[in-house]
Amino acid sequence: MLYINIEKESGNSLAKQIYEQVRRRILNGDLLADEKLSSTRELSQALNISRSTVITSYEMLLSEGLVYSKIGSGVYVSPGAKYDRMPLQATDYCMTAFSSEQLPKGIINFHSGTPALDQFPMAKWMKYVSRAYRGAPTSALGYDYPAGRPEFRKTMSLFLKKTRGVDCHPDQILITSGTKQGLSLVAQCLLSNNKEAWIEDPSNIHVKKIFHNYTKNITPLPVDDKGIQPDLFPPHGNPALIFVTPSHQFPMGGILPIQRRLELLQYAEKAVSYIVEDDYDSEFRYKGLPINSLQELGNERVIYLGSFSKTLFPSVRLGYMVLPRHLIECFSEYKRLCDHHSNSFTQLAVMDFINSGEMERHIMRMNKLYAKRRNCLISLLKENFSDTVKVLGDSSGLHIVAEFRDIIFTPDLINDLAAAGVGVKSVEEHAIVKGCHANQVILGYANLEPEEIKIGIERLKNVLIS
Ligand SMILES: Cc1ncc(COP(=O)(O)O)c(C=O)c1O
Repeated sequence: MLYINIEKESGNSLAKQIYEQVRRRILNGDLLADEKLSSTRELSQALNISRSTVITSYEMLLSEGLVYSKIGSGVYVSPGAKYDRMPLQATDYCMTAFSSEQLPKGIINFHSGTPALDQFPMAKWMKYVSRAYRGAPTSALGYDYPAGRPEFRKTMSLFLKKTRGVDCHPDQILITSGTKQGLSLVAQCLLSNNKEAWIEDPSNIHVKKIFHNYTKNITPLPVDDKGIQPDLFPPHGNPALIFVTPSHQFPMGGILPIQRRLELLQYAEKAVSYIVEDDYDSEFRYKGLPINSLQELGNERVIYLGSFSKTLFPSVRLGYMVLPRHLIECFSEYKRLCDHHSNSFTQLAVMDFINSGEMERHIMRMNKLYAKRRNCLISLLKENFSDTVKVLGDSSGLHIVAEFRDIIFTPDLINDLAAAGVGVKSVEEHAIVKGCHANQVILGYANLEPEEIKIGIERLKNVLIS
């Protein structure tokens, strides 16, 4: 069955939405020449819309020559309609599964990476925001420092030293609009001319997509339960960079042991490669204290990336990088060309939030809350699936990976789950080499109340054990 995601409220005609999605899939080569499309009757029933709407969209495809019809048989993809240079568009991300932004109402969303939004101390935050606007120097209204306001970078260098063991001078800090922008800057500065990037596999699929815009030379590095495995690296490799999440491997959840950290640093040193350390959620740890960063051990080879998306909230769009000194100029220049600098008032508000101790108090409060939510999720999984489920990953962060015996999370199954009111993402979706993680899903728990977790797991069970 052709999966189409329509939005009845979008203001775009339904026929046009279907036409555009099928068109894009044909051009991308997702639908192959001579492949049969779902019948107009099937599709109209599945989407709960009139058959004439589907017929209109198919007629648009026919008139453009993208499909042909065989009388009495159906509609097929025309040969020669695949376009190799078709650029990715936002809609491609939700072709096979609902994207988090588009989940139907009432769904229990286990997607990873969202902190408890309703627990954010908004009233306090507003105090710091309004103070930032009232007290800011006039210079903050103009084009500001590309690398970030100096006073904020000073605060960040102290804060990162204290909380993450990061060892740096304030000048080594570059304020970004989040990790994704940091990764784009890394790619622009280091991956030109098709240079080689090695990345953990699986890892957040955005990493590969961002790097892929700059190089086709990407090598996946398989991870095990502790993370990346430097003993598997080829003896004489020389990638421009090695991307890792050592404090909490995304998504598998391993913590990289010290021996592997040292091996990785030695390798990078010899190969003259940079290690890109994405420290995305390690502030939250439920057993002992957060593990120190890799940057602490090798600060001239490591590019450290962090974000306020988890400690504050994702739409704040603020992050930071810690760079080896010799890269600062190049990165600052690319940042200037990208958006000149990140919002100065947000920087000042976050600076005060940190300096007043509010940030650490908030993190501590959330740590306790997330530990409870994590325990609740794990016990409900055990209660409902007993030994057919295995929970993977260390006691950290905002998600776990659940591995199910004898279940393959195909895009269709993920869509069936969404239709049943439970949003999950498969690990496979983040894998570069496909086929090794098909029975694993990522379950984010931070933004769900225990009652919602309970309903979500019941819905999961209803679909998986039916
Ligand atoms: C592995 C990883 N790194 C970083 C981030 C944060 O990205 P950003 O700062 O762009 O919000 C995420 C978001 O979920 C993530 O999964």
